[in-house]
Amino acid sequence: MWNKTLTLSLFLFFISLVDSIRSYTKSDLNRLRDEVKEMFYHAYNSYLKFAYPYDELRPLSCDGIDTYGSYSLTLIDALDTLAIMGNYTEFQRVVELITSKSKFDANINVSVFETNIRIIGGLLSAHLLSYRAGVNVIPGWPCKGPLLELAEDVAKRLIVAFDTKTGMPYGTVNLKYGVPKGETTITCTAGIGTFIVEFGTLSRLTGNPIYEEVAMNALNALYNHKSKLGLFGNHIDVQTGRWTAQDAGIGSGVDSYFEYLVKGSILLQRPELMKMFREARKSFDKHMKKDDWYMWVSMTKGQVTLPIFQSLEAFWPGVLSLIGDTNSAMKTLHNYHKVWQQYGFTPEFYHIPQTEAGPNKESWPLRPELIESIMLLYRSTGDPFLLQAGEDILRSIQHSSRTPCGYATIKDVRDHRKEDRMESFFLSETTKYLYLLFDTDNFIHNQGQHGSVIDTPHGECIIETGGYIFNTEAHPVDPSALHCCYDLPKQNIFNFSDFVANRNLFKGETISERKNSLKEKHEENLKTVSNVSNIENRESEEIEEDLLNEITTENSSSYIKLEDNDNISSKINAEIETEETNASQNPVDLNVLNFVEKIIPKEKKVFDPVKMLNRFKFENKYPSNTSWENNYKLLSCKAQHFLQKLSIFGEFFNR
Ligand SMILES: *[C@@H]1O[C@H](CO)[C@@H](O)[C@H](O)[C@H]1NC(C)=O
Ligand SMILES: *[C@@H]1O[C@H](CO)[C@@H](O)[C@H](O)[C@H]1NC(C)=O
Ligand SMILES: *[C@@H]1O[C@H](CO)[C@@H](O)[C@H](O)[C@H]1NC(C)=O
Ligand SMILES: *[C@@H]1O[C@H](CO)[C@@H](O)[C@H](O)[C@H]1NC(C)=O
Ligand SMILES: *[C@@H]1O[C@H](CO)[C@@H](O)[C@H](O)[C@H]1NC(C)=O
Ligand SMILES: *[C@@H]1O[C@H](CO)[C@@H](O)[C@H](O)[C@H]1NC(C)=O
Ligand SMILES: *[C@@H]1O[C@H](CO)[C@@H](O)[C@H](O)[C@H]1NC(C)=O
Ligand SMILES: *[C@@H]1O[C@H](CO)[C@@H](O)[C@H](O)[C@H]1NC(C)=O
Repeated sequence: MWNKTLTLSLFLFFISLVDSIRSYTKSDLNRLRDEVKEMFYHAYNSYLKFAYPYDELRPLSCDGIDTYGSYSLTLIDALDTLAIMGNYTEFQRVVELITSKSKFDANINVSVFETNIRIIGGLLSAHLLSYRAGVNVIPGWPCKGPLLELAEDVAKRLIVAFDTKTGMPYGTVNLKYGVPKGETTITCTAGIGTFIVEFGTLSRLTGNPIYEEVAMNALNALYNHKSKLGLFGNHIDVQTGRWTAQDAGIGSGVDSYFEYLVKGSILLQRPELMKMFREARKSFDKHMKKDDWYMWVSMTKGQVTLPIFQSLEAFWPGVLSLIGDTNSAMKTLHNYHKVWQQYGFTPEFYHIPQTEAGPNKESWPLRPELIESIMLLYRSTGDPFLLQAGEDILRSIQHSSRTPCGYATIKDVRDHRKEDRMESFFLSETTKYLYLLFDTDNFIHNQGQHGSVIDTPHGECIIETGGYIFNTEAHPVDPSALHCCYDLPKQNIFNFSDFVANRNLFKGETISERKNSLKEKHEENLKTVSNVSNIENRESEEIEEDLLNEITTENSSSYIKLEDNDNISSKINAEIETEETNASQNPVDLNVLNFVEKIIPKEKKVFDPVKMLNRFKFENKYPSNTSWENNYKLLSCKAQHFLQKLSIFGEFFNR
């Protein structure tokens, strides 16, 4: 015990010495990269050996356990990390395994949110990386393929959750039977606003606009339930639109909603999402931000309710770097990094005024958010402090989390006790972002200097030109591939002629420019090309100070304190539906179980997603502001060079 405590104190002392920033040579970076790779394989091979086909590895008992859905979650979640680390043979083996075995037609209740980000996100990303990873893709790829089919199959099982009065989804569905009878109508904000990246990708690849439109409708609905102060609470009733938890913050229960406004906007070239983000951010800065920390405040009154930093909130600086605000991002990141140095990890909750972990949330379940922000910020600033911060994280994990068969959750950051759990995001996110921080030449960091030309039924198409957008489970999506399949954006999604009229707002190269520059590449240094397009577009685009529409939220009669959002469905008990219903039937109307009254119609309807979408359109409850859709200035970013490189719709086609 004495020995352990001493080691720990020495260790904490050691990592607190970072104030003098050392410099890193290329070979230092390579050494760190290889160490991360070894870390990944130690955990991955242990999963294969001890846990597969269960969802997760238990790193203390060295066995497996099903946690989210009995669908070999860790295998699917880790798949694209293999491609990023260059292990194409293993990638191919796992793709073979998944496409021959996976079945999602199972009688299990799953979280709509987690299944979307981990399973759909993982499958889509693996689908898009298949070509690079040497999988023998079928003709018509990337618009067709077995992994894409699987992803769409899962999405079809989830989409029934959106059939509510507001169009905001339920939190849980049964993969076989739809929304379980008696399912709670309360969903957390992130559980509503975290679909556009995956669903948009699905729509653009398959040509079926329904996924993107349903996700957009949910985002519009959420936006229209913001408080007078422009803030969003933690949980909302998706049938009535009543907020049931009114703490507004950037962490647990809300986090990835804001992340997806930014990422969805960039990936799908939708300025209106960026507009929503900028508005929300203005309110955050006004009400929640204190000394570069973000507090939890009442969404209606704006006063601080919880002066807490949550480990999950550490994604925020990364998102700020995506919109070019590296200044604010670095300041906030410094705060978070100090917490890391204080304990060697970031606790789930950190009481800001008392500068201590907790209360009652002292664990660190191998979370990726801090390293994600560090990686994105390093890419936009090149500041060596960030390498040091990344190395701190690597050292902590190696020192205190490693076990003979994996890496364990830290039960308490104050004494580094371990817990028998390794969430799948350790392999899909934490190790991936660490690896990408140190592997500065990874293809993911491509800033548009090169791409691959593929033949599609629609003509020649250029893919893998960089600007990868990571979903909130760190599954990268290649934005250029989304242009290869259909002219969806032109037809359904927004006013394309307006987009073309505004194309001069983009300072990235056009495809013909890029082709010409490739021809001249012997004379011209490619670096100069990227330099030229990066220095343009420097004027900062200040967003007009619009008056926000005042939209009142209903009074909440049952105020629920902030809590874990994963277990909400257990709060309401309902009878178990015994007989098996037809999978394609619509269970939603059966389940409008209010707290007060039950409305159970006698006959069941067949669920038709198209009818649902038509209902949303017909009711038009949450119209979007069309003037935002054309404000393409919102899509430019000064800090992340690669984001300037995205091409314009249609240019990828060699017609
Ligand atoms: C790829 O992963 C498999 C399984 O972990 C491993 O056996 C193999 O050595 C790896 N190959 C490379 C090139 O890293
Ligand atoms: C699209 O935008 C153009 C140019 O602003 C405008 O003339 C046209 O009416 C718009 N079309 C639709 C369907 O809104
Ligand atoms: C990049 O642009 C800057 C600013 O215009 C210029 O001073 C510099 O020489 C350029 N670098 C290269 C490698 O072309
Ligand atoms: C909201 O609740 C407050 C306090 O419970 C009450 O004073 C107020 O009248 C309510 N507002 C509405 C619109 O019901
Ligand atoms: C979920 O809630 C139920 C009842 O409130 C509780 O018994 C159970 O332990 C909870 N599960 C988790 C994973 O927190
Ligand atoms: C799914 O949830 C419903 C409602 O809580 C419950 O009745 C049903 O037994 C659950 N199904 C499974 C397979 O756990
Ligand atoms: C489910 O319902 C659909 C449409 O009503 C029908 O075509 C199908 O045969 C049914 N399947 C089963 C297993 O009953
Ligand atoms: C749409 O947004 C613009 C600019 O933000 C604003 O001036 C206008 O009033 C909004 N229109 C509606 C209908 O809300």
